Amino acid sequence: MEGQGNPKILDYRNENGHGWSFYEKDGLLLTIVTTLEDDMEMIRNIQKLELRDDDVLIAAYPKCGTHWLWEIVNMLRAGNSKYNKKGKQIAMLGMPKFSRPDELPSPRVLNSHQYFRHLPETLAEKKIKTIFIMRNPKDVSVSYYNHVNGLKLSIGFDGTYSEFLDLFLDGKVPWGDYVDYVKDWLQVKQVHPELPMLTLFYENLKKDPVKNIRVVADFIGVSVSDELCEEIAEACSFKKMRTADKDKEHVRKRSELWKDGHQGIYRKGDVGDWKNWITVAQSEKIDDVIGRRFEGTGIVFTYE
Ligand code: A3P
Repeated sequence: MEGQGNPKILDYRNENGHGWSFYEKDGLLLTIVTTLEDDMEMIRNIQKLELRDDDVLIAAYPKCGTHWLWEIVNMLRAGNSKYNKKGKQIAMLGMPKFSRPDELPSPRVLNSHQYFRHLPETLAEKKIKTIFIMRNPKDVSVSYYNHVNGLKLSIGFDGTYSEFLDLFLDGKVPWGDYVDYVKDWLQVKQVHPELPMLTLFYENLKKDPVKNIRVVADFIGVSVSDELCEEIAEACSFKKMRTADKDKEHVRKRSELWKDGHQGIYRKGDVGDWKNWITVAQSEKIDDVIGRRFEGTGIVFTYE
């Protein structure tokens, strides 16, 4: 991969000691939990992954609805509304130790939070169908805060939402800057027009799941009845998925991952929960930063 020089170590913890230190390598912020060599090895493994023609890839910044879309696409490809027995981490590119894409039968639904340049090198050439999902940054920040605040692991975050927001807006969080990530994928569309790419918004999926499930089905080329789209929308409603999650084969025990009483991934599943967390001043600050940084991209987020 590019940029083989020594990695920079960035200490992005705030004055209260909350936050993370990262290795910065080729635009990637790697949390220092394993060794840099392990992490770079992980990226090389992803880049060399042998793609299969019928793979579908979901690309998403954390907390934009990856689990939800992963289940939907799996159901569409299975032609029924049964939950995949596996947790999505097994099909996640960039989850060292836990992802095992090679062991998955075809057709695979891969998923990742990586930048395009860190994904399999043949992604565009092989024209792998790629679905990119975004979510409004206010809800992303709240969802992300609750995620890291609920983790028992060393990459957890013990500060307040307000402290997290400052780091989030500066891109000093695991997986890096949200705006950079989205812009990177928007650019992929221009640079690699050969890559079949569908762009979705969490809020639209929430507002009209059946219509959006139909759009996904058409994009991945599966023929499904309206009834099945409705059944999948129902099975993939927030409440049903939260319940179904308990029966999945997860790569790690829930109690090892989350603090007692934490909701885990299936927290609230709403559009506009940010209003319960974000002050007027913070909301204005986000509008300002996001407005400026997305200027000219044509991206318009829905906040409620
Ligand atoms: P909240 O924390 O706002 O509840 P990801 O899968 O990318 O990590 O995203 C997780 C977010 O998607 C969480 O948001 C989670 O509740 C939400 N989510 C998961 N399944 C969902 C579903 N079926 N419907 C709506 N939202 C869902």
